[in-house]
Amino acid sequence: MPNITLNGIQVEVPEGTTILNAAKQVGIEIPTYCYHPKLPIAGSCRMCLVEVEKAPKLMTACSTTVTEGMVVYTDNEKVRKAVTGVLEFLLVNHPVDCPICDQAGECGLQDYYMKYGLHKSRFALEDKVRKTKHQDIGGQIMLDSERCILCSRCVRFLNEVTKTGELEICQRGNHSEISIFPGRPLDNNYTGNLADICPVGALTSKDFRFKCRVWFLASTKSVCTGCANGCNIDAYYRAETMYRVKPRQNDAVNQTWMCDFGRLEYKKANEARLVEPTLRQGGSDRTPGWDAALADVAYKFQEAIENGGAESVAVIASPKSSNESLFLLRRLAAEVLRTSNLAFTPRVAGDGFADDFLIKADKNPNSRGAKLVGISDADFDALLQKIADKKIKALLLFGNVLGDLGDNEVATLLSAVPFVAVVGSNESALSRAAQAVLPSATVFERGGTFTSFAGRVQRFFAGIPLRGNARPEIEIVAGIANRLGAGWKDDDEAAVFSALAAVLPPFSGMTYETLGEQGQNVSEAGNA
Ligand code: SF4
Ligand code: SF4
Ligand code: FES
Repeated sequence: MPNITLNGIQVEVPEGTTILNAAKQVGIEIPTYCYHPKLPIAGSCRMCLVEVEKAPKLMTACSTTVTEGMVVYTDNEKVRKAVTGVLEFLLVNHPVDCPICDQAGECGLQDYYMKYGLHKSRFALEDKVRKTKHQDIGGQIMLDSERCILCSRCVRFLNEVTKTGELEICQRGNHSEISIFPGRPLDNNYTGNLADICPVGALTSKDFRFKCRVWFLASTKSVCTGCANGCNIDAYYRAETMYRVKPRQNDAVNQTWMCDFGRLEYKKANEARLVEPTLRQGGSDRTPGWDAALADVAYKFQEAIENGGAESVAVIASPKSSNESLFLLRRLAAEVLRTSNLAFTPRVAGDGFADDFLIKADKNPNSRGAKLVGISDADFDALLQKIADKKIKALLLFGNVLGDLGDNEVATLLSAVPFVAVVGSNESALSRAAQAVLPSATVFERGGTFTSFAGRVQRFFAGIPLRGNARPEIEIVAGIANRLGAGWKDDDEAAVFSALAAVLPPFSGMTYETLGEQGQNVSEAGNA
């Protein structure tokens, strides 16, 4: 392993390490534009120039591997002068339209100008080369060619990651610019990543454009709910409104990428929310508050069991619920209601599209978790048949578990059950047909865990406040159980997860601390 000296600090690094990564190990920041950890090295922007003793000229830190005894300076006068020159060169034709640019506040050009530039432009505005602005190039992306610094990250992403190659650099010299091929817009399921990897405001998200200045946003670490892959995300919000999500690096799951479909899933946290526990009778709605609503639901289940036995009640779980919620739900069915009528839906709305990269056909984030806590999807169709045959007198549903059916089919099916209670965060055909609606928190409002298709247990963290009078699912399940005499403790998600890990072998030894921000794989023993 070569020993090198970086700004006077001795460091030993593995063979083949670049100067840039060696510097990272000792906490030294070297400015970069074209470098991206998940893309091939281009070495084109020259922002990462450093001085290497005995080398005739400055070297690019991103593309130079260390050798034994190398002595490197990343921040002396010679380096600063060179980096300042590179910046001035990059800014020669730049429009400097930061006040109307979505990237402002998280722009590499702004940041390094403040650190290394601070020079006045030697070019008059009227001498700058003008290029195309606000061009819709397809997918989720708008292109502003004037802001582009030709780092080629976008070209390499489309060549190496999606392998669709829709962008190229065309023209020459000052007139060089990024372009799609004539009449061929972006055409892949991962276009949103281009806005993330563009270090400046040249590629911006159509969805997020002009919605909010980034410095007003707070973020929380979360997991995408769009499919079973469990891509790690950062969720950005202001007050109780979600604004965008971006992929969060997890090399075991999604590297630094996510798909376009998952990127827009956050909108469900803003739209058509259920915010008040509601009881419906004879066509009129009452909002009696949580105590009365939970008591009413518990009473209806008690009454159905007394009249028809435990097999006259049923619970349909959602594979969009957390491990914690599903664990309590299984206990509710098995220990409190004592019914075998418990299943989760394997059905998905839509075409179940999948690819060989991230997107999975299962559009639920936690089908694997549902199975591991002991809820099966095998009996789902049989349970629907019991409902249609009018054998079920009280039914508890979660989320939008019949989302693959049309509104009329849902209404017809549920009309066969005298009492239907729905726990969910959004309006749906279920909430419209139910006699009791219990509004629940979204993943952005309360923490928990999902288990991905590959068995990775991952935490999502609370960000925005609970919408209206919504409650976390675990509180709703425990609330019903306790009103039926269960005597459960008022546990939070961490305590429920510990209880789950204590009795379910695949989760053995896991706690919220051991899961951390990147998750852990379920143990092979007891794998489902
Ligand atoms: S559009 Fe952005 S990512 Fe693409 S070359 Fe220009 S600056 Fe780089
Ligand atoms: S691949 Fe699945 S988990 Fe990943 S971003 Fe897309 S929908 Fe979300
Ligand atoms: S980051 Fe090294 S040349 Fe661009």
